[in-house]
Formats: sequence, C-alpha cells, structure tokens
Amino acid sequence: MTVAGEKILIVDDEEGMRRLLVRVLAREGYQAVAAESGAEAMRRIGGENFDLVITDIQMPGMNGLALLEELKSFDPALPVVVITAYGTVESAVQALRAGAYDYLTKPFETDEIKLTVAKALERERLLAENRYLQQELLERYPFAGIVGGSQAMQRVFEVVDSVATSNANVLVTGESGTGKELIARSIHQRSNRRDLPFIVLNCAALSEGVLESELFGHEKGAFTGALATRKGRFELAHQGTLFIDEVGEMPLSAQVKLLRVIQEHEFERVGGTRTIRSDVRLVAASNKNLEDQVKKGAFREDLFYRLNVVNIELPPLRDRREDIEPLAAHFLKKYQRETGRPVSRISPRALSCLLAYEWPGNVRELQNAMERAVVLCKGESITPRDLPRGIQGPDQICLELPDSGGSLTEILEDLERQLIIQTLAREKGSQTRAAELLGIKRTTLRYKMEKYRLLD
Ligand SMILES: Nc1ncnc2c1ncn2[C@@H]1O[C@H](COP(=O)(O)OP(=O)(O)OP(=O)(O)O)[C@@H](O)[C@H]1O
Ligand SMILES: [Mg+2]
Repeated sequence: MTVAGEKILIVDDEEGMRRLLVRVLAREGYQAVAAESGAEAMRRIGGENFDLVITDIQMPGMNGLALLEELKSFDPALPVVVITAYGTVESAVQALRAGAYDYLTKPFETDEIKLTVAKALERERLLAENRYLQQELLERYPFAGIVGGSQAMQRVFEVVDSVATSNANVLVTGESGTGKELIARSIHQRSNRRDLPFIVLNCAALSEGVLESELFGHEKGAFTGALATRKGRFELAHQGTLFIDEVGEMPLSAQVKLLRVIQEHEFERVGGTRTIRSDVRLVAASNKNLEDQVKKGAFREDLFYRLNVVNIELPPLRDRREDIEPLAAHFLKKYQRETGRPVSRISPRALSCLLAYEWPGNVRELQNAMERAVVLCKGESITPRDLPRGIQGPDQICLELPDSGGSLTEILEDLERQLIIQTLAREKGSQTRAAELLGIKRTTLRYKMEKYRLLD
C-alpha cells in the first residue's frame, strides 16, 4: 500500500511505548507525532491536522476513553485506535461503542500495528472520497432521483432549498403517496446535518406507550419487558434530523411531551431521571389535515404551530399531470435495470391510459403500476394490457398492434378481454348482466374471465 505521509498522533504516558510507535510508523513513511497526555493531545489537535490518533487507555489525568469522547465531539470523522492492556476487554468494547475504529492489545507485534493503521487510514480515505462524491453529486444534480418538472414541484424544490440549511421545523403535507418522505429526506440531504443521522418514526403503527419509549427511549426496568436501557429516536437523531411520519396519529399525551422537547430542547428517557439535551431538526408529515384535527381537539394547536414553521404542501399527481410521463419513464428505467428485462418504451396507447387516470394513490400507485407492467410486458414496449385493470380505463378500448407485429388471435383476444373488463365495470361486476349484454352464456363468460386472469 502506498503511504501519502499521513499524520498520526500517538498518545501514551509511557515514554518507551511512545518511542516504539513513533519509530515503527515513521519507518512506514507516516509523520508520527507523540503526546504524553490527553490534555497535550487535545492542544495539538486544535492546532494541526491529524489523519489518525492512537491512544493508550490507561493514563493518569484524562484517560483514553475520555480523550476519545473529546476527540469525537471535536471531529466525529477522525479515526481513533485505542491500546488496551491484556485482559481488559471491557474497556476495548467500551471504546468501540464510543466510536473507536479498532483496538490493539498490549503487547502487540509491529506488523499488527502497521496493518491496523493502514486499514484505518484506508477506510478514512474511502469515507472522505465518498463524502466528496456525494457533495459533487448534490451540486451537479440537485434533487437527484426526484422527478418534478411541473411548476408545482419546482416551487416545492425552491422552498426545500431555502429552508434546508436553516434549523426551522418543517411540516410536509399531502395525500398518500405524493412523496412526503422523499422530500423530508431531501431536506436533510441538503442541510448542514447531512452527514449525521436521518431517523424516521412512524406514529401510525405504534400504541401510546410504545410511541413514548420509541421517541425518548427507556431505562432498564421502566416497565415490564424493558430488559435493557434503550435509546429513543431523539437520542439517535442527535445533531441530525428526526422525521416524524403520520404525526396526526400521535396521541395527545405524547404530543405534550413532544412539545416540551421542542420548547426546552431536553427530555428524559421513560423511567429515567437524567435530563438529556437534544439538538434535533424536526420534519413532520401528515396526510390528514392537521388544522381540522386541531379544530376537532385531536391535535394540540401549540404543537401544530411549532411543527408548521414552514409548510410544504405536495400537490396530488392529478393536479400536475405533466409529471406523469417523466415519472413513468423514470420508473420504467428503474425497474428495467432491476429486472434486466428488455422493456424500453411505453406505447402511445398505454401512455394515454396513464395520462387519463386519476391516480388516487399518487406517485406510489404509478410506481407500482410501472413495476407490474415491466414484469408482465412481453415485448419491448408496455401496452395497455400490461397495466392494472382500473388504469386501462373503462370507456376506452386500448388496442394496438404491437411493435413486433402480432397474431390476429392475440389481438382479438386482447380486444375480447378489454370488452369484458369494460362490460363488467359498467355492470358493477354483475356477471349475469355482463353476459346478457355481450350475448353469451354466463358459463362462457366465467370461462373467459378465468382465461384472461380476471378472477384473481
Ligand atoms: N417526485 C418523485 N420522483 C420520484 N419518485 C417519487 C416522487 N414522489 C414520490 N416518489 C416515490 O413514490 C413512493 C412514495 O413516496 P413517499 O413514500 O415519499 O410518499 P408519502 O407521501 O410519504 O406517502 P404516504 O403518505 O403513503 O406515507 C416512493 O417510493 C418514492 O420514492
Ligand atoms: Mg410516507
């Protein structure tokens, strides 16, 4: 491995150990510098750039674990390797939990230290490169992976851009499947918190008690079943973003507690007495109208205002039909890549079915329809019969000659199938009346429905 003269800080109170490590690492081509205490290490770290720190755990004054904590709050990305004495596994485990990259047990071979250092620096290089590429990508393709050429979505992107770097709480509203979570993630991605966690909590799926312990964590023994202390989402999201989904479903008791964290920036774990400071940016989402919930008394008005500092309303897909075609193309490409199928186009007929449909399930419904179509499609281009029945449209016969030509039998079958679908839709599913209207026996209709997979 080539070494680019990376700078390593060695912290140990024993002079012999310091000298040994400096010698071994300098011979490898690193710039090795030694400090004899945690305090001296912190002084040096403040003034110089180091790529790695190796620290002994047992030292008088600030021990290695305390130093590790200081180093991590100074620069979370700086890799730290700790040195433990033989037989003190607990402190090694503690160090790894606190964010150390690895540990070495005394006495160690020089090869061991060389390898550990090389691996730690290699990983750091990869992480730095990854951060750089992510940043590049973000700058070159703003809102990568989010389709939204319509004016309505362009306005949404503008708001996202202007609030992302602030700490303002954001409430994202809109019907189910409009992309609320995607927008919440892009707010985090474009904020200064992007390298810190984005944590999600969905309120809909959780009972009152569980919700509180999910939000704030709990102490061991706080309730039956609390076998160990557990961190809540607020703690996990520290310095990052917490996305509270379906916030309209949050019970009033939990709303009171959430309000307190927003106002005072602190909370306690369930069953705990220690007050924990919180630095979390909140993004909440709801597909219920929260103002109505406030009027009904189901949602606290003060909490509503605290969450709704900035509101981003995602328009339903039917109100931005110009996004349908690019979205369909986006999902076609995605599922084509995933499945490796040779589907590359959407036929004009199929497209007109997509454009005419109302999309009550919004983008998610379109995404599902495209996934299914890619799987069912027999040729290169998606035809109306690859779409879910409801989308094929009840009053429209979507018939077309496949690009590759087609047999008359197949085309007629397609026509027959669509006529049956339409008749059944018009007769609200009554097979007797549909058979009458089509002039065939009910048993014949049943047979054909089975053949065209209309019964499942
Ligand atoms: N503009 C878009 N571009 C690309 N993909 C999108 C877009 N909007 C939504 N999607 C995709 O559609 C799916 C649904 O989006 P998302 O989960 O963000 O919706 P939601 O509003 O949170 O829905 P729900 O209220 O049901 O939770 C996701 O797979 C998402 O990636
Ligand atoms: Mg969602």
